[in-house]
Amino acid sequence: MIKIDLIVGARPNFMKIAPIIHALERVNNTEPLIKYRLIHTGQHYDANMSETFFQQLEIPKPAFNLNVGSGTQAEQTAGIMVGYEKLLLEDKSDLCMVVGDVTSTMACAISARKLLVPVAHVEGGIRSGDETMPEEINRMVTDSITNYFFTTSEIANENLRRFGVKDQNIFFVGNTMIDTLLKNRARFIKPEIWDKLNLNEKEYIVLTLHRPSNVDEEAKLKDLIDEIIAHSHNLPLIFPVHPRTAKIIAGLGITHPRLYMIKPQGYLEFNYLVERCKAVITDSGGITEEATVMGVPCMTLRDNTERSETITIGTNELIGVNPKAIKPSLDKLFQGNWKKGAIPDLWDGETSDRIVHHLLQIFKYE
Ligand code: UD1
Repeated sequence: MIKIDLIVGARPNFMKIAPIIHALERVNNTEPLIKYRLIHTGQHYDANMSETFFQQLEIPKPAFNLNVGSGTQAEQTAGIMVGYEKLLLEDKSDLCMVVGDVTSTMACAISARKLLVPVAHVEGGIRSGDETMPEEINRMVTDSITNYFFTTSEIANENLRRFGVKDQNIFFVGNTMIDTLLKNRARFIKPEIWDKLNLNEKEYIVLTLHRPSNVDEEAKLKDLIDEIIAHSHNLPLIFPVHPRTAKIIAGLGITHPRLYMIKPQGYLEFNYLVERCKAVITDSGGITEEATVMGVPCMTLRDNTERSETITIGTNELIGVNPKAIKPSLDKLFQGNWKKGAIPDLWDGETSDRIVHHLLQIFKYE
């Protein structure tokens, strides 16, 4: 029996881990080969940032919650490392599986490797080159001590090879976030805001902003929102607001009759909105992947991305963070000139099964 720890901490982890758990359970139904314990670090703790996702995505209750809560980068990292180390000292696993690039990902990878527990990184190898983002540091540190890399693209494979990772440790499997998207697409839920505003398909824009570089500077956040409002052709802007952004916006007093700031949505409600909107304007990484698969025009308010296939293949474009760049992009959208895009290789809903198959091979069960 293989003993695996599955680590989650923040919202974008939940949709990446859910299909892996379901794939493990499918294998175990035939023959119990992999025992897993799901560990929530508690980085995200609000019900609408965490619990809702467990319910909607049918993720079992975590075996442990490290309850780290909010804090500075170092406080969160340290708290998670200490909490997870304690668990490992009491009961060691054969593998620590981390996903994505949040602080919980890096912290648990470090604790595991220091106790000689190998690390598997799902979504390993991606890089934005922007070391001012905490996520890039998390990616670099995690990948520098990862043993098994489960990757989403050939670009990620190339990055890893360049860093000297051997091919036998790179498993190009696709994107588990897309497993979740494809599995749930038929059961997206119409959110409250839809009927409240009488929304129509392709007649509203979805906006999300939470990167410190966009939201922590008040004047810039206000300029970005003002420009989007000014050039969105009178369409309603549906803006589910991340807690970080909410705190800042509350102080700024931004309001506009077409700007609908709503609480963070559940997974099924949020993607209902994305699937039907005219376009998404975002600074998230994961949303650019989901928009690509659903063929929805996506504008990214960042200067770089670690997911460049969403641009070269998908529907995403980097707009940058200068508010003046918003008008030309929205003009292009409204002139009907946005690219159509295609779906990257292996983003097919089967990624988690591939991962579990590789795990069985790594541990010589196949
Ligand atoms: C984290 C991830 C980011 C991801 C984002 C998605 C890191 C470095 N960043 O950023 O990659 O895109 O999650 O949401 O790991 N807060 C609450 N309730 C919560 C969680 C947070 O109010 O449940 C507040 C915190 O008090 C803090 C802010 O939100 O002020 C930021 O939370 P934090 O976990 O530090 O990082 P995120 O910005 O959410």
